[in-house]
Order: sequence, then C-alpha cells, then structure tokens
Amino acid sequence: MPELAYVNGKIGPIEEAVVPIEDRGYNFGDAVYEYVATYNGRLFRLEEHLERLARSMTALSFPPVSIDSIREAIVETHQASGIERAGIYLQISRGVDRRDHPFPQDSVPQVVMTVRHLAEKPVSYRQRGIGVITATDFRWHRCDIKTVQLLPNVMAKQRALDAGAFDAVFVSEEGVVREATSSNVYIANQGTIVTHPLTERILGGITRQVLLKVAQASGIPVAERFYTVEEMMAADEVLLTGTTTEVLPVVTVDGVPIGDGQPGPLCKTLFDALRKEAER
Ligand code: PDD
Repeated sequence: MPELAYVNGKIGPIEEAVVPIEDRGYNFGDAVYEYVATYNGRLFRLEEHLERLARSMTALSFPPVSIDSIREAIVETHQASGIERAGIYLQISRGVDRRDHPFPQDSVPQVVMTVRHLAEKPVSYRQRGIGVITATDFRWHRCDIKTVQLLPNVMAKQRALDAGAFDAVFVSEEGVVREATSSNVYIANQGTIVTHPLTERILGGITRQVLLKVAQASGIPVAERFYTVEEMMAADEVLLTGTTTEVLPVVTVDGVPIGDGQPGPLCKTLFDALRKEAER
C-alpha cells in the first residue's frame, strides 16, 4: 500500500515529487487546498470537497481548472495507492512564473497531491478528552477560502502543543469564538448544539455540514449563532470537528475544566453518528 504523490498528471513516490521554486504557492501562498479522508477505501464527501475547492479558486480569480479532471486525479491516485484509510492532501497554485505580485499572464494552475495513511487519533483523546487554549484571531478576513496561508494556524497550534494542549481556538478581539486551527468548534448547552454561523471569518467545514445534518436527524437542536469565550467556558460540552479530528471532546479551555471535566454524552453520540455516516 504505497503512499503516493501526484504532480500535474504524474503519479510517483513522494520523495521524488518536486515543484519549481517559482511556484506562486511557494512564493506568495497563492494556492488553495483540500484535505479528504477515506473510510474503508471510499472517499468521504468528495463532491462537497470539490465544490468548496471550486469556490476557493473562484474567490481568488484563478484561471479555470476542470473539476472533473481533479476528481479523476484524486480517484486515480487513491486507487493506485490502495490505501483503505487515507488522508489525501490536494493543493492547486495559481501557477509558476518569475516572482512578481500581479497575476501572471496565461498562468497554468499547478496541481499536486499526496495520498498517505491517515493515523487514527489516540483512543484516549475520545475517552479522556482534549485541552485547548484560546488565541487571538489575527488571520486575514477571508477564512472561508481554503488557502495554504496557514502561518497563524501553525503558530497557534504549536503554542497549544507547547502549553500541553491539543489545539488553539481562535477568538475575535470582541471575544467571539471562531474556530480551531484545523477544526470547527461547537458548544453544547442543555442538549442544544451552538456553532459559529458561516461567515467569512471561518471555514465552512465539510464535517460541520455532516455534523449539523446528523445532529438534526438525531433530534438534537442546532443553533448557528455567535457565542463568546465566557459562554464556551460555561458550556456543558465543547467539541471540535474536522476531517482529521472527526469529533473530539474538549474538556479544558486554558486549563479550566468544561462541565465536569469529562467528555460529554452529545460528543459521543455525534462521533458515533459521524462514523456511521462515513462507514455507510
Ligand atoms: N482543515 N477550520 C479550519 C481552519 C480548517 O483548516 C479545517 C480543515 C476545518 C474543518 O474542515 P473540514 O471538516 O472540511 O475538514 C475548519 C484540514 C483538515 C487541514 O488543514 O488539514
């Protein structure tokens, strides 16, 4: 089951995959990405990921890219790997040209991908829960576009790890909880799930879409509205969702226990529902 790379139509070993140094993704972060997971060898919510990818490219005025050819490339590279539980990272840059800020004339978007084994999160994360820290959201204002400009996310994640936590949750200067460094965030209060609405300040997670759907199907009320750090601190439960996090219970925020400091029942129900949906 080889881990593989794809570079503009060529599939091969990851160690041998290279891109030109003047790729605009490399010089300017002028690139978008998606991260898709497979369960039992099947791509989970591929169409939703492709739709979001198309939206990201349109938002950045990329030259046209055929989504059909991207779908084919993902399926072909994944099949060639034969990996049952894979994490597929796909990145498309605006193109390669001498380093200059304006969009290059007639640039050709560059498509690269890796297909790797996706390691399951340690069981203890779900059984005992994870801790997060809060971090001021100093990202740009178009977090709904999935670009590779992730330095604030990388810095905040490392700060969380250095503090012995799993992740950092971005909070606006006014105290509104946005999202984590690679996951969406929710609070649960008296059986209702609350999450940040879809605005330009957060990424519209595909797992978020699925979670809200399965919550509603399970009779769990959902509210998409702004909420503050104080509300999060006082919530019964706090959860994270994402393609790699799936659904994780947060039991401390800045070292302060949430509820009784144990993973809550809604988190478990929603994790089971997500897995059922993914393995269906
Ligand atoms: N990140 N918010 C941010 C900032 C993210 O980067 C991600 C995903 C999410 C959750 O989105 P989804 O449910 O579609 O995975 C929310 C991917 C996994 C990453 O950067 O690796």
